[in-house]
Amino acid sequence: MNVTVFGTGYVGLVQAAVLAEASNRVVCIDIDTDKIARLKQGEIPIYEPGLEPMVKNGIATGNLVFSTDAAYGVEHGELLFIAVGTPPDEDGSADLRHVLTVARTIAAHMDCKKYIINKSTVPVGTADKVRAAIGEQLAKRGIPDLPFDVISNPEFLKEGSAVADCMRPDRIVIGTSEAESEQKLRHLYAPFNRNHEKILVMDVKSAELTKYAANCMLATKISFMNEIANIADKVGADIEAVRQGIGSDPRVGYQFIYAGIGYGGSCFPKDVKALISSARQRGLSADILTAVESRNERQKHYLADKILAHFNGNLNGRVFALWGLSFKPNTDDMREAPSRVLMDRLWGQGATVRAFDPQAMEECLRIYGARDNLVLCDSKNDALQGADALIIATEWQQFKALNTGELKAALKTPVVFDGRNQYEPDELGEAGFEYYCVGRPD
Ligand code: UGA
Repeated sequence: MNVTVFGTGYVGLVQAAVLAEASNRVVCIDIDTDKIARLKQGEIPIYEPGLEPMVKNGIATGNLVFSTDAAYGVEHGELLFIAVGTPPDEDGSADLRHVLTVARTIAAHMDCKKYIINKSTVPVGTADKVRAAIGEQLAKRGIPDLPFDVISNPEFLKEGSAVADCMRPDRIVIGTSEAESEQKLRHLYAPFNRNHEKILVMDVKSAELTKYAANCMLATKISFMNEIANIADKVGADIEAVRQGIGSDPRVGYQFIYAGIGYGGSCFPKDVKALISSARQRGLSADILTAVESRNERQKHYLADKILAHFNGNLNGRVFALWGLSFKPNTDDMREAPSRVLMDRLWGQGATVRAFDPQAMEECLRIYGARDNLVLCDSKNDALQGADALIIATEWQQFKALNTGELKAALKTPVVFDGRNQYEPDELGEAGFEYYCVGRPD
């Protein structure tokens, strides 16, 4: 099929590459000329396993084309995906400026029936707004009867496994009440709908709300576990035992119940805020989501509080090795990463950070620039040299195997603050370490 994707961020680029891989002719449109120029050369602006070869293959086969020419994009695609950003406004609500700009651009150029598909995470009612914006523009052009449909088709991919998630989705939500639109999308997604039926067709508003409900449910699981971990701390219980104890009940399940130093990334924090804001706009207080968010904000301070307590409230001149900067493993994304709150606290107390992350070093330099209290290290071992303690903020695979001998030799004092519960307290205790983690007896 002929497809155009507006927006080459995480969602748009991955979706476009995957659709091109499935032999669709896909054009990607972005207003960022520099980004498009780089993408044309096969240069990927983000770290995402498997994406680069897929984009390069798409370029080589001619199935994937990058352009800044919106008119060409509109002309090319029968299916037009809107996959631009919806950053939070000052009040936490999703800013729809970019989505509506794309809608108007589509309406300015279309001259036959188009299927406009919202991929971006957008509040309930956005499809109506897109529809209205397009209708207005078509009326201005004197062609008010040109047919089109606006479909909600939210994306559920995870950073770090985006390509795999897109190739093998666990569900494909299609929000439309038009049979023809449903049939077009069923056809497009047929190669991804093998083995068992994954397509769920529903009305547009339910599809829009499904996306928020999914992310907010997962964020709730995490904040709930973090709250239980804090209680475990106080009563002397072990959150890891509790996790297994409750996860074994299939109604709870083992996934997304790992306690830690809070969720980050571009999705959960933004989507929880946006749903709270949507609820408030309709006179509801969203008590659970408000608690989910405030628990997460406080959880990001968990390690800094423990570090301060350990060093008797004085971190001036102390040096900390920090393993992990990205908000989770397998990404270079540091948006809303707990490591950032932690570094700010440490710097605020006069400490220096020796940081290492397998992918996010460039991103860290881009965010913070060169500064005296941040040393960007070449390896996890380099970060340890002369530090007063080791801090783990992200559970990258390469941090899981700990050489306690090397660690002890490199650190000034054998102290580990682990925000992701990566090691066994008994083993580190026996190796002579003071080991602090989340919700487990220190
Ligand atoms: C999330 C959702 O998982 C995707 O389904 C969704 O499509 C995406 O948002 C989106 O809306 O675009 P992502 O932000 O990539 O994906 O990250 P997750 O893997 O969900 O992790 C989010 C955060 O939760 C991370 O900071 C992670 O460290 C934390 N987390 C996760 C925990 O603290 N504990 C857990 O048990 C699981």
